[in-house]
Amino acid sequence: MIWVLCILSLGFIWPAAGRHARNAEHLSGLKRFQRDFGGDDDDRSAVESSVLLSQSSAGPNDQTCTPLLGVEAALLNHTSTFMFKVRTAGSLSLAWVGDGTGVLLVLTTFHAPFLLMRFGQSNLYRSEDYGKTFRDVTDRINHTFIQSEFGISVSPDHSGKVLLTGDVSGFGRFRLFRSRDFGLSFAQSDLPFEPLIQMLFNPEDSNTLLTLSIRLDLWLSEDFGATWRKIHDSVCLVRWSSRNTIYFTTSNNVSCSEKGMLELKKTLNYGRSFQTIATRVYSFALGGKFVFASIMTGTGTERTIHVSVDGGGHWNMAQLPTATNQQFYSFLAANQDMIFMHVDDPGDTGIGTIYVSDDRGIVFSKSLERHLYTTTGSDTDFTTISSLRGVYLTSILTEDGVVETVITYDQGAKWQTLRRPENSQCGSDTSTNRANTCRLHIHASYSTTMKMNVPMLPLSQPNAVGLILAHGSLGDAESTLFPDVYVSDDGGYTWMLALKGPHHYAILDSGGLLVAVEHTNALVNQIKFSTDEGQCWHTYNFTNDPLHFSGMDSEPGSRSMNVSLWGYRNDFSKWVVVTIDFKKLLTRDCDDGDYVEWLAHSADRSGSSDGCVLGYKETLLRLRKDSVCWNGRDFVVRRKPSPCLCTEVDYHCDFGFYRPENSSECVMQEEVKGRALEFCLNDTAEQLQTSGYRKIPGNQCEGGFQPTRKETDLGKICTSDALHPNFLTDNSSLNAVAIAMVVIAILLTSALAGVWLVKKYVCGGRFLVHRYSVMRESVEANKIEGVDDVDTQYMETAKAQFNEDSDQDLLD
Ligand SMILES: *[C@@H]1O[C@H](CO)[C@@H](O)[C@H](O)[C@H]1NC(C)=O
Ligand SMILES: *[C@@H]1O[C@H](CO)[C@@H](O)[C@H](O)[C@H]1NC(C)=O
Ligand SMILES: *[C@@H]1O[C@H](CO)[C@@H](O)[C@H](O)[C@H]1NC(C)=O
Ligand SMILES: *[C@@H]1O[C@H](CO)[C@@H](O)[C@H](O)[C@H]1NC(C)=O
Ligand SMILES: *[C@@H]1O[C@H](CO)[C@@H](O)[C@H](O)[C@H]1NC(C)=O
Ligand SMILES: *[C@@H]1O[C@H](CO)[C@@H](O)[C@H](O)[C@H]1NC(C)=O
Ligand SMILES: *[C@@H]1O[C@H](CO)[C@@H](O)[C@H](O)[C@H]1NC(C)=O
Repeated sequence: MIWVLCILSLGFIWPAAGRHARNAEHLSGLKRFQRDFGGDDDDRSAVESSVLLSQSSAGPNDQTCTPLLGVEAALLNHTSTFMFKVRTAGSLSLAWVGDGTGVLLVLTTFHAPFLLMRFGQSNLYRSEDYGKTFRDVTDRINHTFIQSEFGISVSPDHSGKVLLTGDVSGFGRFRLFRSRDFGLSFAQSDLPFEPLIQMLFNPEDSNTLLTLSIRLDLWLSEDFGATWRKIHDSVCLVRWSSRNTIYFTTSNNVSCSEKGMLELKKTLNYGRSFQTIATRVYSFALGGKFVFASIMTGTGTERTIHVSVDGGGHWNMAQLPTATNQQFYSFLAANQDMIFMHVDDPGDTGIGTIYVSDDRGIVFSKSLERHLYTTTGSDTDFTTISSLRGVYLTSILTEDGVVETVITYDQGAKWQTLRRPENSQCGSDTSTNRANTCRLHIHASYSTTMKMNVPMLPLSQPNAVGLILAHGSLGDAESTLFPDVYVSDDGGYTWMLALKGPHHYAILDSGGLLVAVEHTNALVNQIKFSTDEGQCWHTYNFTNDPLHFSGMDSEPGSRSMNVSLWGYRNDFSKWVVVTIDFKKLLTRDCDDGDYVEWLAHSADRSGSSDGCVLGYKETLLRLRKDSVCWNGRDFVVRRKPSPCLCTEVDYHCDFGFYRPENSSECVMQEEVKGRALEFCLNDTAEQLQTSGYRKIPGNQCEGGFQPTRKETDLGKICTSDALHPNFLTDNSSLNAVAIAMVVIAILLTSALAGVWLVKKYVCGGRFLVHRYSVMRESVEANKIEGVDDVDTQYMETAKAQFNEDSDQDLLD
C-alpha cells in the first residue's frame, strides 16, 4: 500500500514566500490528513446523504434554485486532461511563477522507501497554460535529485525567478538551479555549504538571497545565488525586513536552545557591519512597523516583551504579563498600526489571553480570555478574514470544557458567538439539552490538528468582498461529527449551509465563481460550482472516467477562471490533472448594472452609526447575486469610505486606566489616583495627562467624543526597557576580550536597569501594575478593523525554530 500513501501526499507551494507559505503548509497538512482518513469507512454514511443531489443543483437550497442549462456543452470543450507519462509516485509540489502568466512548475520527488533517505528521483514539469498541458523539463536540471523539503522557491515579486536546491551526490554536495525566466532555463552553481532552510528572498531585491547552513552559518548571495558569502556564524533565527535589513539572533558560543541567552543583531549593509540591538533575548518577531523581542528579566526565569518601532534603536517594555519558560507568547496578527498577541496562561491549560496593542505596541488591552491555543499542538483557530476589514475568528475553551467559535468584527474589541444559519437546524445529536445553544462552529487549524474530517481551512480573499467559505457544524459546541460547508457573504455576520459534507473549495474570478469538490474516498467525477456566492450550486461531470481526487488548485489571488483537479486513476503511480476553464460559462463581461452598493458591517439599518467600524463606514460595489458574468482579471473592489462620529468605543484605555466589565468608560486605577502619572517612554520620563482614553490604532472617527490627552516630557532620564545595548555596535572585529567585557558591562547595566525599572514604574512609592482593560464585554457583542497582513515570514515557532516553513508563529 506504500504507493497509495505516497501518491496522496500532494504539497502546494505558492509564489509569495510569506503569507502563502502558510497556506501551503496547511494544504499539505490537509493532504496528510486525507491519508489519515483513508480507510475509515465509518464516516461514509454521512457522505452518502450528500450524494442525493439533483443533477443540476447540488446545494441544500434546491427548491429556490433554477438549474443552469447547457453547462456540459459549454464546459466539455474547455476541460483538459493531462496524464503524466512517467511514473511519478511520491510527493508532488506545485509552484505558480509570476502573476497571470499561467506558468506552473510541478516537482515530483520519489524516495526509494528502503534505501538511504537521500536517494531519490525527481521530475520537473512545466505548464504555460494554467495546468492544461505540461512538458517534462527534468533535463534542464540535469536529472538532479531535488529535495522535497526545499521544493521550489519562487521570488515573491513575480519577476519569474525560481530556485531549486539539488542534492548532487547524496553525500552533502548541493547545487542550486537558478532560473530568471519563469523556469524556462536554469543556470547552476554549487553551494559551498549544506543548506538547512529554504532560500529567503530579500522582499525588496529578489537577487539577494539568504540562508542558513546546517552548521548554523548565515550565508548571503547578492547575485541570485551564483556566489555566496558567509556573513555570520551561530545564527539561530533570521528574517528579512524592509530596506534590505536583516535581523537575526545569534547564540554566541552557546547553543541555540539556550533561549534567553541569545543576542539580537541587525545588519543594514548585507553583513558588512552588525549592530547588536538586544541581549538576553529569548526570541524575536517582526510585524508591521514593530520589532518584538522577548527578553529575560529579573532572575532570568521570566521574560517580558519589548517592542521597538525604530528597528531596535529604542526599546520599550510592553505592558503585558511576564511569561515563564513553560509559557509562550504568540504573535497572531499585525498591521502597520497594531498587533494581536496571545499570552499563554500559566500551567498547561491549552488556553491563554489575546491582547491588542496601541499604535506604539506598548499599552495592551485585553481582548479575549480563554483563547484556545494548545501548547502541545501549537495550534490555534485564529483566522484573519481577509474579505472584510476588522474581522477575525477563533475558538475559546469555555469553563465547561467546550470549544466554541467566536468572531470579532471590530479588530478584537468585542467577540461573540456565531449566529445559527437560517437554513439549517441543530440535529438530534445535540448531546445536551441546553436551550438556545444551537450555534454555528467553524473548523480551523485546531480541528485539523485533532484529525477531524476537515479538508480545508476557512477561505476568504480580499477581492471577494464579504465572502467566507468554511467547514462548520451546528450545536452547543464544536462537533466532532461530519462537518458541512457554510458560506457567509457579509464577513461572518450571517451564515448559510452551502454544501453537505466536507469539500475542497476555491474562489475564482474575485468571488464571481465558487467551485467545490466533495472530499470522499470514492471516485470523483463531479465538480460543483456557484455563481451566486454559494446559494445555489450546480454540478458538472468533468469526466466519464472518475478519478481518485487528491486536491484542487488554482492560481493564487482568486482571479483565475481555470481550476485544476489533481488525482490518479487505476494506475496509481501516474498523476492525472484535469483543468477546467470556466470562462465559457461566464461568457459576458460584467458591466455597471451588475454591481450593487453594499454597506459593509451593517447590522442595524436604523442607526446613524450603522456600519461604523474603527471610526468609518464603507460602501462597496459588489456583484449582484443573480448576475452571471465575468469580473475579469483586472477587477478592483471600489470602496467609498466616510468618517463616523467618535464615541468611547473608538478608544483604548490609556496607561493606568482600565474598563470595568460591561462598561465602555475608562476608569483610573486605584494606584494612580491623586498622583501625577509618570510614564517611562523612550528612556525619558513623560508625564501623562490623560483622561484615560487613547484612540484605537487605525481609527478614523472625527468629532464626537474627544477626550484630552497630553504627554509632557519631564526631561528626566529613565529606563523603559530591561536592556540597554544601544552603545553596543560590534563590527565583528572585536576580539574575545572586548566581547567578554561588553558582556560583563551588559550584565552590570541590566542589573542597574532592574533597579531603575522598579523605581520608575513606582507611582508615589508603589509599583504600578497596569491593569488590562477588557475592551468591552467579553464574549457577547460586536465591533473593529482588518489586520490583513499576517506574514508568516516574520514568525517563528518555538518547537522547530529552524523550520522556516512551519506555520506556527510563536514569539517565545
Ligand atoms: C468542441 O471542439 C471540437 C473540436 O475541437 C469542435 O469540433 C466542436 O465544434 C466543439 N464544440 C463546441 C460546442 O464548441
Ligand atoms: C549532468 O550530469 C552528468 C552526470 O552526472 C554529468 O556528467 C554532466 O557534466 C552534467 N551536466 C551538466 C551541464 O552539469
Ligand atoms: C566557546 O567557549 C569555549 C569555552 O568557553 C571555548 O573553548 C571555545 O573555543 C568557544 N568557541 C567559540 C566558537 O568561540
Ligand atoms: C454525473 O455523475 C453522477 C455520479 O457522480 C451521476 O449520478 C449523474 O447521472 C451524472 N450526470 C450526468 C448528466 O451524466
Ligand atoms: C485560463 O487558461 C487559459 C489558457 O489555457 C488562459 O488563456 C486564460 O487567460 C486563463 N483564464 C484566466 C481567467 O486566467
Ligand atoms: C456583564 O454582563 C453580563 C451579560 O449581560 C452579565 O452576565 C454579567 O454579570 C455582567 N457583569 C457585571 C460585572 O456586571
Ligand atoms: C522613540 O524615539 C525615536 C527616535 O527618537 C522615535 O522615532 C520613536 O517614535 C520614539 N518612540 C515612541 C514610542 O515615542
